Amino acid sequence: MEVKTKSLLDNMIGVGDMVLLEPLSEESFIENLRKRFDHNEIYTYIGSVVISVNPYKSMLIYTPERVEEYRNRNFYELSPHIYALADEAYRSLRDQDKDQCILITGESGAGKTEASKLVMSYVAAVCGKGQEVNKVKEQLLQSNPVLEAFGNAKTVRNDNSSRFGKYMDIEFDFKGDPLGGVISNYLLEKSRVVKQPRGERNFHIFYQLLSGASDDTLKKLKLDRDFSKYNYLSLDSAVVNGLDDATNFRTVRNAMQIVGFMEDEVQSVLELVAAVLKLGNIEFKPESRCNGTDESRVKDKNDLKEMCELLGIEQSVLERAFSYRTVEAKMEKVSTTLNVAQAYYARDALAKNLYSRLFSWIVNRINESIKAQAKTRHKVMGVLDIYGFEIFEDNSFEQFIINYCNEKLQQIFIELTLREEQEEYVREGIEWTNIEYFNNAIICDLIENHQNGILAMLDEECLRPGTVTDETFLDKLNMICAEHQHFESRLSKNSKFLNDHSLPHCCFRIQHYAGKVLYRVEGFVDKNNDLLYRDLSQAMYKANHTLIKHLFPEGNPAKVNLKRPPTAGFQFKASVGTLMRNLQTKNPNYIRCIKPNDKKAPHIFTESLVCHQVRYLGLMENVRVRRAGYAFRQAYEPCLERYKMLCKRTWPHWRGPAREGVEMLMADLQVPAEEFSYGRSKIFIRNPRTLFFLEERRRQCLQDLATLIQKIYRGWKCRTHFLLLKKSQIVVAAWYRRYAQQKKYEKIKSATTVVQSYTRGWQARKLLRELKHQKRCEEAVTTIAAYWHGTQARRELRRLKEEAKRKHAVAVIWAYWKGLKVRREYRKFFRANAGKKIYDFTIQRIMQKYFLGLKRTLPSMSPVDKNWPARPYVFLDGVHTELRRIFHLWRCKKYKSKFTEEKKAVYEEKLEASELFKDKKSLYPSSVSQPFKGDYLEISKNPKYQKLNSSFDEKVLLADVVNKINRANGKGTTRILLLTKKNVVLADQKTGQVKASVPLPDLTSVSVSTQNDGFFALRLKEGSASAVKGDFLLSSEHLIETITKLHHIGSTASDREQLNVDISDEFLVQFKQDKVCVKFIQVAPKNGNSVSCKRKNNRLLEVTVPASA
Ligand SMILES: Nc1ncnc2c1ncn2[C@@H]1O[C@H](COP(=O)(O)OP(=O)(O)OP(=O)(O)O)[C@@H](O)[C@H]1O
Ligand SMILES: [Mg+2]
Repeated sequence: MEVKTKSLLDNMIGVGDMVLLEPLSEESFIENLRKRFDHNEIYTYIGSVVISVNPYKSMLIYTPERVEEYRNRNFYELSPHIYALADEAYRSLRDQDKDQCILITGESGAGKTEASKLVMSYVAAVCGKGQEVNKVKEQLLQSNPVLEAFGNAKTVRNDNSSRFGKYMDIEFDFKGDPLGGVISNYLLEKSRVVKQPRGERNFHIFYQLLSGASDDTLKKLKLDRDFSKYNYLSLDSAVVNGLDDATNFRTVRNAMQIVGFMEDEVQSVLELVAAVLKLGNIEFKPESRCNGTDESRVKDKNDLKEMCELLGIEQSVLERAFSYRTVEAKMEKVSTTLNVAQAYYARDALAKNLYSRLFSWIVNRINESIKAQAKTRHKVMGVLDIYGFEIFEDNSFEQFIINYCNEKLQQIFIELTLREEQEEYVREGIEWTNIEYFNNAIICDLIENHQNGILAMLDEECLRPGTVTDETFLDKLNMICAEHQHFESRLSKNSKFLNDHSLPHCCFRIQHYAGKVLYRVEGFVDKNNDLLYRDLSQAMYKANHTLIKHLFPEGNPAKVNLKRPPTAGFQFKASVGTLMRNLQTKNPNYIRCIKPNDKKAPHIFTESLVCHQVRYLGLMENVRVRRAGYAFRQAYEPCLERYKMLCKRTWPHWRGPAREGVEMLMADLQVPAEEFSYGRSKIFIRNPRTLFFLEERRRQCLQDLATLIQKIYRGWKCRTHFLLLKKSQIVVAAWYRRYAQQKKYEKIKSATTVVQSYTRGWQARKLLRELKHQKRCEEAVTTIAAYWHGTQARRELRRLKEEAKRKHAVAVIWAYWKGLKVRREYRKFFRANAGKKIYDFTIQRIMQKYFLGLKRTLPSMSPVDKNWPARPYVFLDGVHTELRRIFHLWRCKKYKSKFTEEKKAVYEEKLEASELFKDKKSLYPSSVSQPFKGDYLEISKNPKYQKLNSSFDEKVLLADVVNKINRANGKGTTRILLLTKKNVVLADQKTGQVKASVPLPDLTSVSVSTQNDGFFALRLKEGSASAVKGDFLLSSEHLIETITKLHHIGSTASDREQLNVDISDEFLVQFKQDKVCVKFIQVAPKNGNSVSCKRKNNRLLEVTVPASA
């Protein structure tokens, strides 16, 4: 559980909050700081302001554990820390939607930059996480090393002194996750580029580049690792203890990459840095001209050449720009030569401008990367780390500007602190009387007043025509500011009437809030003018280098602007004004840094130095203001929580409102009424004494409580221990008993199992024996029963058979006896017709039985099925045969009725063939199975016979190849025989030419033999036209079909007689006038012999036919 009563008042070294200091004096204040510093407590509060004393050593108070410790804790809950302030600011930004700014002030080396980094790293650690958020955080944090490399330098006061002012706005979304940021930079101390005071260095990047870059990079940049080769690098402190330039260079390169610099951008930046170094090495020599003036010339052109190569500038252009100056005024251009001093001035001006513009470009480039992407409203936390108040031996324009900025910050601090304090009293309803404090507005006015402020006068002087020098500027100051109480010069009234020897002639002194500073006016006018000859900016613009071109836009001849650019002082004043306005809109949080010694060493606390800072930072006033009202304030809840043990009625619990509890407490403790006031949400304690009184009482009470708690705790511990032992003993005993019982049980169980197994085995064997015996008995019984049943069955069968025989005999005997009896009895009545009746009845019965039997045994419906049941009685012979015939006819009729017309015609023809040839010609049986095809030549389809086919209109009934027998030698010639309804045609087989066409009425008969041959003679009607050539003797393979078709046509035609078919082995054929006899002789079949026809004599043709097998 969180310890709510924890407070910064616990284990305090000195006092954690200066407001509680008692008694309050400058000595006690510094003593308190010292005491805490000696105990490594570098942070102390003045109310909500954090004082940070630079430890000059690394401390173990920034660990992640410490971050966790301070996370989400109240400001006064833990010992003072910068994390407490960062946490307070972050939470009030996140939860109360108040924009915050963290103002870090203090002199150079006091730890402002470190403090700003600590604040940023704390916020980064406690805000949201996630890939995108982490990237933003990383970029924001990594912008620091880059800016420090280019904007920080070693000074006598600080090895890492910020030489520019930085204000960074970190933007958050509604959840408190960082979205991005914007960095504003203020006036880089660019004079450092060309000249550094003794013991100081140029900006870190120059040394880092020369120490850390690889040989290759240096070669590309035309640089040498030796610092001594560069005029712009001071040698006396080139190497700084504890600063590893080479490692830092790698860190910076890495940081640039993380921030989002492209590789070519980094290269360009390094080229510019190298160019500045090269520029410093360019030297000039005088050259007298004929008109008596001196003109400068570049001494050794090597560095100039290398620089021009690096930046892509034409050497002659730059060289000319170092020797001449062109002044343009009202359309007129006047070119004047530069002497050596002017050339050096021009060179340095160029180097300073180049570097400061590069620095601004880097800031803008970082801004581009870290810019918040989301367009939603942002909450903003600004962190201001500006160069600290500076008092050097020799203070110039830069120090004047820096100190002016610090004056403004001090002013805002005074205003906002007091305003906040007063607002709180009003908010809480506490009576408040205004407090007097030193207001530095008067000093700010001395510097920035529009009419007679120092900056305004400097501008006026710079813009004034005529000779303007630093001295004329000082004269002007003497004239205008002489009366001002914070201004001193030899001529002012404060300068003790010209006798002040500490005040040289060319100087003026300002009494700043932080002390008096003597400024040397030398260089004020030049630095304020910040002039860069136009020739130089134009030369730069002509460079073939993108970045350089971009840095010198005014060099563009197309955009020549004759107006003077605003002065450095004017610009600075404007940007400081903007910054102040910006800060005033935000809730301020202060970190006031104090430098403990001038040696940059740990453990040294120089009281005079600290005292000076305490004074000028106005810290005592801060405490007084804080205490003028009430020294301490606390919300009712934590107050009651912390002190409730001091009153019996509030301890241990107070159920009512916290305020009433606190009132009860105060009354009970009898704290005098003037010592405190009740606000709306807080109690205000006027004197630290009262608070310490409460603390003391609380400490005593805590001791008593601790004793009580210890007593109770010890009792509880012993009791708990005893109970635990007792409980353990029971548990152990229980476990042991359980174990012993378990063992015993397992033994019994295994014995039981053995006994059981034996018993079960014995029982099983016994049962098996019984079952086997039983099975054998059952088998025996079954066998005996089978035998016995068999005997019984056979006996019964025998008995039944005998009984049947007896019954049959009885029936026969009875029938005979009955017949006899009937015959005897009825003989006398039916003697005449009984016999006939019995006969009829018997016949009827027999016929009935016969028909029923026949019905059952009828053969199949196939007409060729020759089966027929046997005749049962002889007297039914005729009937049986007749029935067979009738049945056959009936089934033939049935069979025929299923025929189609074509099939019918075929069968009719077959029938006709049968009538003509059956049993008359031996060839017939072989033709029965052959179907009558008719058109064997497929005459209508065969293209060969197309002509022949087309010569008839009627349908061809038969087309076949036949042999026409020559009567001269009995040899055959092949012819096509066509038969139509009207003609018989003979045609040539090859040509299809019609040889003879006989109309059917001219045919009288056809003669064929009885043999197995295909010869036939067509006999023609005597006297008919066809008969002129005589009859035809032909031989065909389809004789039966041909003759049947001829006969069929004759039988169906009504106009003529039926064709006669003579079947005889000898017939006469009329050949023209002769009649020739054709005789058929049957011969025995020899191997391969066939039908042959030979002419025997004039009147005889002999055909030998082998007998069929
Ligand atoms: N909290 C700290 N812990 C350890 N060392 C510190 C701390 N604060 C500052 N220092 C040391 O003091 C040195 C100077 O600090 P820093 O650069 O922050 O001063 P500054 O106030 O920013 O000075 P300037 O105004 O010159 O920029 C640091 O380089 C560091 O060595
Ligand atoms: Mg700094």
